[in-house]
Amino acid sequence: MKGIILAGGTGSRLFPITEGVSKQLMPIYDKPMIFYPLSTLMSAGIRDILLISTEEDQASFKRLLGDGSKFGVNIKYVIQPSPDGLAQAFLLDKEFIKDESVAMILGDNIFYGANMTDKLLEAKTNAENGKATIFGYQVKDPERFGIMEINSEGKVLSVEEKPEHPKSDYAITGLYFYPSDVVSHAEKVEPSARGELEITTLNDFYLQEDRLQSELLGDGYTWYDTGTFESMNEASNMIKSVETQGNRLICSPEVIAYNNGWLDKNILQKRAELLSKNTYGKYLENIIKKGR
Ligand code: TTP
Repeated sequence: MKGIILAGGTGSRLFPITEGVSKQLMPIYDKPMIFYPLSTLMSAGIRDILLISTEEDQASFKRLLGDGSKFGVNIKYVIQPSPDGLAQAFLLDKEFIKDESVAMILGDNIFYGANMTDKLLEAKTNAENGKATIFGYQVKDPERFGIMEINSEGKVLSVEEKPEHPKSDYAITGLYFYPSDVVSHAEKVEPSARGELEITTLNDFYLQEDRLQSELLGDGYTWYDTGTFESMNEASNMIKSVETQGNRLICSPEVIAYNNGWLDKNILQKRAELLSKNTYGKYLENIIKKGR
């Protein structure tokens, strides 16, 4: 399975912070925002990752992440010339996807929960068996999101983009798993009234074919879309509190890579030395001492 991180966009809700730098390079407590979606894909066992960004920001992402080898993954880069919608992610490098299933995550989405890995692996299996999966999270202001309507068995009945009268309060989060025919489906998406290739249209194609599954992220799961001052701050506080209270380092690509057996001890040691002045590096040092 291939992975895509969509990290373009304008970040206008975060101006002036994002006037000079991509939103996805902003910190969420002790890591750049992009580490969080990267760690989510890695938790699903995905090692081939395409990072989509604007032209101006590509060099900064390359400086931060390189070819991915420091995280035991392969990262390829492609430019989205203008923010024409989420479904465009599948059309910018068809060679990368070839005929594999794909997980796509937005660069400003943070997922955290004890059983998240199980949910991810289930969605991966679904995709490999020809079904798409979307993840729902209950929100207070459903008219601001793509919304899924589900019945009592969790079957998706409808998907709607920012509806005036939402049929449920389950937002569709920015993490999507698709089977190997996603490119041909994305090619059929027409621009919406706001001129974007909407992911909701793509999801609706799978729904019409009875191939759309939903996973609800209920109690015990946290989801943030860190596109505003408030949500960036809230997410930072959440990460700080989990890490400080539990003496842990969560959503770290290095830790996930090491635990997955993708990272040689020597590479991790170099990372630990580079980061040795803070708690991130000290945690890496500790896991090297303890072993896997
Ligand atoms: P948004 O938060 O909807 O848009 P934005 O990041 O441009 O921010 P703002 O609304 O403040 O101007 O985008 C969600 C995520 O998807 C974010 O990580 C950027 C990314 N994105 C793209 O990479 N390309 C696109 O065409 C769009 C619409 C979003």
